[in-house]
Amino acid sequence: MCMSLIKPMNTIDCIKARRSIRRFLPQKVGHGVIEQLIDCARWAPSWNNCKAVRYTALDKEEHLKVLANTLMAAENKHIVKNAPLILVVSNVKKRSGYERDGHLSSCKGESWEMFDAGVACQTLCLAATELGLGTVIMGTFDEAGIAKFIGLPENEEIIALLACGYANETPKAPRRKEVSEILRFLQ
Ligand SMILES: Cc1cc2nc3c(=O)[nH]c(=O)nc-3n(C[C@H](O)[C@H](O)[C@H](O)COP(=O)(O)O)c2cc1C
Repeated sequence: MCMSLIKPMNTIDCIKARRSIRRFLPQKVGHGVIEQLIDCARWAPSWNNCKAVRYTALDKEEHLKVLANTLMAAENKHIVKNAPLILVVSNVKKRSGYERDGHLSSCKGESWEMFDAGVACQTLCLAATELGLGTVIMGTFDEAGIAKFIGLPENEEIIALLACGYANETPKAPRRKEVSEILRFLQ
């Protein structure tokens, strides 16, 4: 893809323009572009800057076929079937929420692992939007099966899957709550 054709977006436009994309063109995502996405994701904040989120890129036809046919929840099969790229987002265990001496220091326990991965995923999705790519986060899949299939290191845990590619749909934005419904000022 020619990067010079991409129009820079301001951050607020990018946040509002991002949509979950579930239909993709067959066009591949270049490895340089994938590296650019991960380069942006690594700038996401993390617990104590522990940098525990990892990414495994699957873009080979035969791998995507196995994933779609045997390792996805029924509702996500059709997404993986037409996505040119799946990123398996994982997390190195016992880092986020932990102190360097190994003790769990937070009242939220290990929840910060999910938090860090979520922040990183959204950062990646926003970068993808700016680069003209569509993404969708997927939360239902055969976790143990995928870990085995990709040879995930023992000390990592899969958090989510991200489908990524050039969009073949322009979905309408699902309704959001009004600011007044979700923000309260302490009086
Ligand atoms: C943690 C999480 C898990 C999700 N899992 C799925 C999923 O398994 N399949 C899917 O099609 N969309 C999934 N989504 C996408 C949401 O359905 C989508 O973000 C929501 O409907 C709002 O639409 P938008 O992203 O276009 O704003 C997930 C989103 C998040 C944040």
